[in-house]
Amino acid sequence: MSKVLTVIGTRPQFIKAAAVSRAINEHGGIKEVMLHTGQHYDDVMSDIFFREMEIPKPDYHFSINTSTHATMTAQMLEGIEQAILKEKPDSILVYGDTNSTLAGALAASKLHMPVAHVEAGLRSFNMDMPEEVNRILTDRVSTQLFCPTEIAMQNLKNEGLASQDKTVVNTGDVMYDAALYYAKQVAQRSSILQQLGISTDKYLLVTVHRAENTDDKNRLTKIVNAINLLAKQYTVVLPLHPRTKKMIEQYHLQLECMVIEPVGYFDMLSLLQHCHLVLTDSGGLQKEAYFFHKYCVTLRDQTEWVELTKAGCSTITGADEDKIMQAVADMYDKPFKNGSVFYGDGNASAIIAKHLASY
Ligand code: UD1
Ligand code: UDP
Repeated sequence: MSKVLTVIGTRPQFIKAAAVSRAINEHGGIKEVMLHTGQHYDDVMSDIFFREMEIPKPDYHFSINTSTHATMTAQMLEGIEQAILKEKPDSILVYGDTNSTLAGALAASKLHMPVAHVEAGLRSFNMDMPEEVNRILTDRVSTQLFCPTEIAMQNLKNEGLASQDKTVVNTGDVMYDAALYYAKQVAQRSSILQQLGISTDKYLLVTVHRAENTDDKNRLTKIVNAINLLAKQYTVVLPLHPRTKKMIEQYHLQLECMVIEPVGYFDMLSLLQHCHLVLTDSGGLQKEAYFFHKYCVTLRDQTEWVELTKAGCSTITGADEDKIMQAVADMYDKPFKNGSVFYGDGNASAIIAKHLASY
């Protein structure tokens, strides 16, 4: 029996871990110990996902002081190290590119413990993003690198990481697995459209939370202006991340659209399935828009999910008001073309489970 310690701490990581945990259970022969770093802590950012997606209750759940990235990461490191020493797992499993990811990978590598990284190889080539630093450092110390796309594989090859004693595989994307599996339950488990009084295909779905947008007054002001302009023409639904809420208040900005609390995964899938178009700076939402055949306006200056922009499924606008308005106008009436399949066949989690069992 192989023992894996999974380190998760943020909303998208709970969703990804739900898919992989299910595959681990189905595979058999692996004992998973779950550690929640406490990076996300509001019920709507954390516990709701454990309830909805039936993720096992974490064996370890920290509470951290989120004042700065260094303090946050240091606090996580200490707790994760203790858990590793106590549990003596065969490997550590981390997801994505958050501070929780880096803390898990670093604590493990200091103890010479194999690290398995889901969503390895993604690059935005913007070192100002905390996520880019986290993902590069995590890939560097990982022993099993599970890439979601062919481009991610290529990035690792270019960096000389796809060799020697590392396992580097294109598994496909675990978020695609999650979307396929949970989408089937949405009709029974979400009534968000009725609650909000909105109709299918008649609204734009917007999310904004990335530090490069929220922590820059000029950029956030321009994005808010664009949203308010769009809201004069369309119904705009915006589940507001707590970080963005805080900064909008701090900058005295005013959102004039349908602002709602962050929603659970089933409500989000319903909003995605039925929207007309997505505008987002989220990594996950860019892909989910594609999974549900919606065009995406990407509110960033670059993306790790370049296959979407190359295929014309997503348009990069940054925080430029004019570009945002133009992208919506260009995409609004265009039928969605879904030629290629970029993210595997929905079995990424099963492939990952098979590799984890090999330790
Ligand atoms: C983090 C990740 C980001 C990921 C996102 C997913 C890093 C560096 N960033 O960003 O890559 O896209 O999670 O959503 O790891 N807050 C609350 N309640 C919560 C969580 C956060 O109020 O449950 C507020 C706090 O004021 C906190 C701020 O949001 O200081 C930022 O949270 P943090 O976890 O540092 O970063 P995210 O923006 O969520
Ligand atoms: N999500 C959700 N409720 C929300 C906003 C997002 O369930 O109110 C889901 C979304 O569908 C996706 C994931 O959270 O699966 C993405 O998380 P986020 O945008 O916070 O992070 P990122 O993907 O940018 O790291």
